[in-house]
Amino acid sequence: MKPVLTAVVAIAAVAAVAYAAIMLMENLIPAGKPLVVQVKLLNDPSDMSPREPNVPTGPHKSEFVSNCTTCHSTRLTMTQPNFPATKWTEVVKKMVTVYGAKIDAPVEKQIVEYLAAIKGVK
Ligand code: HEC
Repeated sequence: MKPVLTAVVAIAAVAAVAYAAIMLMENLIPAGKPLVVQVKLLNDPSDMSPREPNVPTGPHKSEFVSNCTTCHSTRLTMTQPNFPATKWTEVVKKMVTVYGAKIDAPVEKQIVEYLAAIKGVK
């Protein structure tokens, strides 16, 4: 084959492969939709992922777990400093009155008991 003909065949082959690749990408990326790439920081402070901290055993732990994880992770509670029971009573009350947690009064007391036991001030 003459060198010129070889060059023409080579260019045609490259163009065909490029064309196929473009057609493939057009099918993979829906037309008209921007391609969004999400980047998640590993230590994003707003991370509410299920990598739960250790929730210690204590009285009424199950009431705490079942009522205090519907809106946020246990992390929000477990990362608080130790508080006296009066402060935990206020926190639990706030979840009900301000944020609309549906917790019966006797259960609220049990949760405060748990929090005072695991994160209380002696
Ligand atoms: C109805 C949703 C909801 C439920 C159920 C809920 N919380 Fe919260 N909680 C919130 C919201 C909203 C915040 C504020 C989040 C923020 O500030 O980023 C919050 C914040 C907190 C904080 C951070 C400190 C503060 O006072 O704001 C703690 C501690 C906490 N919740 C504990 C609890 C406990 C304990 C329970 C179970 C009795 C509970 N939450 C149930 C919605 C809820």
